[in-house]
Amino acid sequence: MHVTFVHFICIFVGLTLVGWRGESGAAYIADAYCPHLGAHLGVGGKVKKECIECPFHGWTFEGSDDGKLVNIPYSQTGKYSEMKLMLEDTNNTK
Ligand code: FES
Repeated sequence: MHVTFVHFICIFVGLTLVGWRGESGAAYIADAYCPHLGAHLGVGGKVKKECIECPFHGWTFEGSDDGKLVNIPYSQTGKYSEMKLMLEDTNNTK
């Protein structure tokens, strides 16, 4: 069984984090709260390829590209803000 989504709370450092494994097998850890309106990504969020999708409005953040916002489902412009998810580098790619 392939586990694609896990969320957890890191109390030790006072941060609430979300973790997921993308389709590639890479693991990502980020701030659990969506930068849009603060929904908890670990409660109902979905993994799509390397991204995590917010359960509230469906905004999607890329795990492999520094937490970049890559989709707003109801956007007419297709242009996304510079908003990013605070991402931890779990794969030592930086
Ligand atoms: S709170 Fe996450 S998309 Fe709105």
